[in-house]
Amino acid sequence: MDDFVQLFGRVATVVAHAHGRVNLIGEHTDYNGGFVLPTLIPQRTTIQLAPRSDDHVRVASVSLDGKPTAFVLGAEARRHDWVDYVQGVARTLRNAGYCLSGFDALIQSSVPVGSGLSSSAALDVALMRALRQAFQLDLDAFQLALLGQRVENEFVGAQVGIMDPMVCSLGREGWALFLDAQSLQNHLEPLPANADLVVVNSGVAHRHSAGDYNARRAECEGACSLLGVGKLRELSEADLPRVAALPEPLNRRARHVVTENARVLKAVEALRDGDLHRLGQLFNESHDSQRDDYQVSIAEIDLLVDLARGDERVYGARLTGGGFGGSIVLLVRGGTGRDCAARLRASYEQQSGCKATILVPPDVSS
Ligand code: GLA
Repeated sequence: MDDFVQLFGRVATVVAHAHGRVNLIGEHTDYNGGFVLPTLIPQRTTIQLAPRSDDHVRVASVSLDGKPTAFVLGAEARRHDWVDYVQGVARTLRNAGYCLSGFDALIQSSVPVGSGLSSSAALDVALMRALRQAFQLDLDAFQLALLGQRVENEFVGAQVGIMDPMVCSLGREGWALFLDAQSLQNHLEPLPANADLVVVNSGVAHRHSAGDYNARRAECEGACSLLGVGKLRELSEADLPRVAALPEPLNRRARHVVTENARVLKAVEALRDGDLHRLGQLFNESHDSQRDDYQVSIAEIDLLVDLARGDERVYGARLTGGGFGGSIVLLVRGGTGRDCAARLRASYEQQSGCKATILVPPDVSS
């Protein structure tokens, strides 16, 4: 008997999935109205679901404790755990005018939580896809992403940007999604066939709502008001002298955002030119800027990045995601990803005592 039947005593009528993501470049730019360049990872979240005829929701997560928990539609209340995403999706969809009744749902996910790979947006998007199918909601991929951000901002209480729900909803494996977080214009760019991406989780989990992320946002807003702009996106590299005159640490925060936006545009050019060395160099500059100016890295992540850069097959390496832990992404010579990742993990574990996990390339043996 499958888990859904065992838990809920009936069969699921709908199954939906959403992949996690890795951001290639463009970190902490989305909430500043800037540019991002994420792609999907193979790990994904799956929702099995069956509608109910009352207003009750029962939900369990196989990947967490496996125990079902319940709430009533219209009486959602924040509990500060994973069920808030489910409550938030139900509340947000209904507030936006979509008709739902209760449902039973089972969540399964291979996207590690707290790894900077967007386990929460994958859950929001997968659940909205399942509900769309179950209740025939008239909801396209773009609207779904906008609602996904509202779930996090308005219900969960994480002031995240638009990147994660957008790429989880609109992204495609093997392609990068270029997104202008101000106009929301976006398009897909093919990833180079002659390079491998490697994603390694440091084993040190981040917690977004823990305040550091929101503190960086507030610093950017502080820099904007001193500079007299609405969003840091309005500044270009020509404005860096003005930025340098800001008080510490606002000068560093704004310099990161301005230079990072420029790097995303250069990265798209490098992708189109097939210039892997240039792209790798941009990854490296992005990491250094996150470490020194935005100050969102930690010692374990810097160690991983330094070890990666010591391998001549690596074009570039950087912290990916919100920071304060999580994962790094590397661009490496085609065909060498698996070996680079294995060596990196071994030296990192030996030097840090932390357990790393290789997410990309995925482990084909398991
Ligand atoms: C988290 C947020 C994103 C983005 C990144 C940093 O992943 O969810 O919106 O701000 O951090 O680039």
